[in-house]
Amino acid sequence: MGATQEQIGFYADASVYDILHTPGTALEVDGLLAMHDRFVRSKRRAMVLEPACGSGRYLRVLGRRGVRCEGYDLDGGMVGYANDRLRALGVDGIARARVGSMTDDAARAGVFTFAFNLINTVRHLGSDQEMDLHLSSTARSLAPGGVYALGLSTSAPGLEFPSEDVWSAKRGRVGVVQTVQYEPAGEGSRDERVYSHVAVTTPKGVRHQDSSYTLRTYTQEQWLELIARSAMRLVCVVNEVGDEIDVPVCGYGIYILRPD
Ligand SMILES: C[S@@+](CC[C@H](N)C(=O)[O-])C[C@H]1O[C@@H](n2cnc3c(N)ncnc32)[C@H](O)[C@@H]1O
Repeated sequence: MGATQEQIGFYADASVYDILHTPGTALEVDGLLAMHDRFVRSKRRAMVLEPACGSGRYLRVLGRRGVRCEGYDLDGGMVGYANDRLRALGVDGIARARVGSMTDDAARAGVFTFAFNLINTVRHLGSDQEMDLHLSSTARSLAPGGVYALGLSTSAPGLEFPSEDVWSAKRGRVGVVQTVQYEPAGEGSRDERVYSHVAVTTPKGVRHQDSSYTLRTYTQEQWLELIARSAMRLVCVVNEVGDEIDVPVCGYGIYILRPD
């Protein structure tokens, strides 16, 4: 077996991202639709927006369930992959992806009954100003009565330890193992560093991809203050199945936000 070492961004290979993250997506979509039913106050037929949709794993499940949806992502490779898969499934008439930015989205105003953005993706935004722009542009995209479900982990800089996760998945003859190391922000810093090592095994050999990126950190206080002065207000916090939970001091929650 041959081995190659690459220095690329983790998101540069849409299919590898998709193989790793697709397992479990259908259950997550059950939770998202439960949130839609519970919080959206609109008689309109569901129309769902996913900012930073990546490979389109949620769009595929939503499309197959007959839910009209649209995603956007900064990365053209991700968008191309998402649209190819939607076309192959025959759901491209109701589900599509396009290139767009969380800070500068020109989505059709007032169209979407529900928007969602999970697993800390929004922490790729590098400043409070970018987060404000994102919340105002998403608020504009929502139809009256619509809500935004935003999944984010709050943290406690200076009190957390480095940690590691290992994820693995297989599709056909391709196996992917990702080892992710998290280096928490030190006291006074807002930057968590994430280091990813991915090993992709195919019949031709093993390919290794290393990448790293920064996620902006929010304490509970910083996050709640940012929401309070944004274009949205907090309705409540829920878990992945849509059940209400206490606002986490430190940890993951899905924040249900409604435009002011
Ligand atoms: C962790 S992935 C999440 C993808 C998808 N939402 C999912 O859960 O599978 C993060 C995605 O955010 C995209 N991204 C990062 N910054 C962005 C920005 N400013 N605007 C739009 N997309 C962005 C990346 O290209 C990547 O596809």
